[in-house]
Amino acid sequence: SIEENWTRSDQFHNSFLTQPDETLEFALKNSTDHGLPSIQVTTSQGKYLNLIAKTIGARRILEIGTLGGFSTIWLARALPEDGKLISCELEQTYAEVARANLKNAGVQSKVEIIVAPAKETLSKMTPEQPFDLAFIDADKSSSLIYFLQAKRLVRKGGVVIVDNVVRRGTVADPAITNDSNEGVRSLLKHLKDDKDVEATTIAWVGEKGYDGFLYALLK
Ligand code: DHB
Ligand code: MG
Repeated sequence: SIEENWTRSDQFHNSFLTQPDETLEFALKNSTDHGLPSIQVTTSQGKYLNLIAKTIGARRILEIGTLGGFSTIWLARALPEDGKLISCELEQTYAEVARANLKNAGVQSKVEIIVAPAKETLSKMTPEQPFDLAFIDADKSSSLIYFLQAKRLVRKGGVVIVDNVVRRGTVADPAITNDSNEGVRSLLKHLKDDKDVEATTIAWVGEKGYDGFLYALLK
């Protein structure tokens, strides 16, 4: 099938570009063993997040949606020793699995997981120590709210990345009106007139099929 071809393609490229990694494999297995949904970013996407964080010299990273900490590990590995990543997670059980995975990866001292509705956590944060990078990968219906909070908390020149903005092309199909698609559309409509942001969609194809990251630079 088409999906099998894209999985093969993703894995073929990774076989040249990204070393097999027992720590990340442990995180994935520990997550499925504890019943977490297998909806984390792909290896290619995790590596991409890691490279962006290194490229911009990120010292402080905000993540919205920890799940089992797979993207968290990729991002935390890009931080310097005194760097900090704050990750927001709604589900206590997900956070506990993620903490074990982060500890196994040796990055736990750089990461704080805050278990609460992200809207509450974010609205209480002050931008005194702004973030360099935010990665939004939580409930898609709240995409715009999370983006506006990230915009408030990330420095000028910083980057906000939002996962799942293509959703197999369904975001662009007006006949498909679920809360997730409507949430992503609200974000896109907002960006049309947001003069503080320059953004593009990076469409992905690979192990998770067709999807995309929104990549936004804060001016
Ligand atoms: C789902 C959520 C995600 O963040 C993702 O990358 C893929 C799927 C979901 O809720 O189904
Ligand atoms: Mg996602």
